[in-house]
Amino acid sequence: MALTIKAQPSQFPPSPSRRERGDACTMILLGVTGDLARRKLLGCVYNLHAANLLSDRFALLGVDRLPMDDASFRELARKAVSACDEVRGFDEARWSELEARLFYAGGDLTQEEVYKLVDQRLGEIEVGRLPSEKNRIFYLSVPPFVFQPIVKHLSASGLAPRTQGAARPWVRVIVEKPFGSSLETGLALNELVLGRFAEHQVYRIDHYLGKETVQNVLVFRAANAIFEPVWNRDHIASVQITAAETVGVEGRGKYYESSGVVRDMIQNHLLQLLALTAMELPTRLEANAVRDEKVKALRAIRPWEASSHGDWVVRAQYAAGHIKDKAVPGYRQEPDVFPESNTPTFAAMRFMIDNGRWRGVPFLVRSGKRLAKRVTEIAIEFKHPAYRMEELVGLTPGAALEPNVLVLRVQPNDGVTLRFDAKVPGAAMALTPEIEVAAVDMDFSYAEAFGAELSPAYETLMLDVMIGDATLFTRSDEVELGWRITDPILAHWEANPPLQMPTYPAGSWGPPEAHALIDRDGFRWREP
Ligand code: BG6
Repeated sequence: MALTIKAQPSQFPPSPSRRERGDACTMILLGVTGDLARRKLLGCVYNLHAANLLSDRFALLGVDRLPMDDASFRELARKAVSACDEVRGFDEARWSELEARLFYAGGDLTQEEVYKLVDQRLGEIEVGRLPSEKNRIFYLSVPPFVFQPIVKHLSASGLAPRTQGAARPWVRVIVEKPFGSSLETGLALNELVLGRFAEHQVYRIDHYLGKETVQNVLVFRAANAIFEPVWNRDHIASVQITAAETVGVEGRGKYYESSGVVRDMIQNHLLQLLALTAMELPTRLEANAVRDEKVKALRAIRPWEASSHGDWVVRAQYAAGHIKDKAVPGYRQEPDVFPESNTPTFAAMRFMIDNGRWRGVPFLVRSGKRLAKRVTEIAIEFKHPAYRMEELVGLTPGAALEPNVLVLRVQPNDGVTLRFDAKVPGAAMALTPEIEVAAVDMDFSYAEAFGAELSPAYETLMLDVMIGDATLFTRSDEVELGWRITDPILAHWEANPPLQMPTYPAGSWGPPEAHALIDRDGFRWREP
C-alpha cells in the first residue's frame, strides 16, 4: 500500500509514497479496444500523465484484433480519454504529449503472429533505452476465454519471461477478474499463470482495493487509539458489508448469466472488504505481510455447509421496478438473459469467523444490482454499554437506544461516519422522568477534509504496478480461499434450483428473505 506513515516509523516503515513516479516502462495493453480499456484504463493512463506520475520513459503499446495504424489508434484513444468519466479535465496540450507515446499492434491475440509483431514494435519503442529501462507491463484486459492462449504465447514467445524478484528490467503481468469461475477453474488458472510467471510478477486486480476508503480501513484501525482496542468481539456486535448498485446488468447479460452476484462481487470484492476489516494488523505495511494477514482471516471463516443453507444464505433476482422514477425491466427481461434464468442478482449471507478476535460476531454481507441506492460501505455495529440508560431514565418502554455504528463509506461520498446517541435538548435530567435520546452522526468526508478529488481505483493500481507495490493486489492463495468459501454455496445452489426464485422489485433494498436472514440474530440491514 503506497502510504507514508509518519508515526512509529520503527513499527511501520513507510512504503513508497503515493506521489512517487512510475518506473520507466512500456505497458502492453492487450485488449485495448475492449470496453474496460476504453471506458477506464486509457483515461487512467492520461490522468497519471497529467499528474506527472508517468516516467519520461513510459510508452503504451495497444494490442487488439482490429487492424489499425498508430495514427488511428491515437484517434481512438483520444475519443476514449476525452469521454472518460474518470478523467480530471481533458487538456489538449497534455494529451499531445501523451499521444506521441502511444503505439499499436493489430492481430489475433490467440495466434503466434501478433506476438512477433509486438516484439518488433517493442524493439522500436525501446530504442535508446538503457537495459534497466526496458521494463514491461503486460496488461491482460481480455475476456476469460482467450486468457489461456495469451498467457501461453506471452511466455513461449519470450516476451514475458519468468524473472527473479530483484531482476532488472522487470516484467509484470496484470490480470483482470474473473480469476476462474469455481474452485477448480480458479486453481487451474493459478496453475497456468504460476507455471509461467513468478508470483511477484503477477498483479491480480480487484479494483475495490484501489478505492481510497478501502485503503483507509487498515490505517484507520492502526492509527486510532480509540478504535483499535475495541475492534473485537468484546465490543462489536456485528459487521455489515454492503455493495449495492442501482445499475442492472448493463448489456452484459451473457457474462452475467454465467456469473451471478456471488462470482461477480462476493467472491472477490466483498470478501476482500471482509478480510481487511477482520485481519490482524500486519507487522509491516508491505505486500506480503498484509496479504498473509488477510489470508489468515479468510482461512478462519467457518466453512459453509448445505445443512445450514436455508438459514444463512439468501439469493434473489430483480423484478421490474423503478430506479429514480424510471421504469426498468426485470432481470429475466434483460437482453441475453434466459427467460427462466435462476442466476442471482442479489445475495445476502452471514459469515462467522472462528478466531479469538471475532468468535460469535456475524459478518453480514450483501450485494445486489438494481437496489435502491448505489452505496458500498462497511458498518461496524457496537454492543450496548453495560450501563443501561433505558432502565434508568424513563425511555418509552421497548424503545431501545440505538447502538453506536461506525460506517466506513467506500462510495459514494467516501469517508467515515460515527453514529452515537445524544440527549435531545429540553427536559432537565434530574427533574423529568423521561428524556429523549436521538442518534446523531459525526462525519468525515475525504472531499471536505482533503479537498482533492480522489484518484480512480484503476489509476492508483496502475501506478502501484509501475512502482512494484503489490499490496493492493490479490495473491493466488487469496483467490483460492475466495473460491473455497463461495464454492460450496454456488455448488449447492446450482444443484438445487429454487422452485421459485425469490425476487425483489428494482429500486428496493432486496427481498424480504434477506431481512429474515439477519432478523433472527436480532439485526436489521441498514438502509444507507
Ligand atoms: C465489477 C463487476 O467487478 O464491479 C460489475 O463486474 C460491478 O458487475 C462493478 O458493476 C462495480 O464496481 P464499482 O466500482 O462501480 O462499485
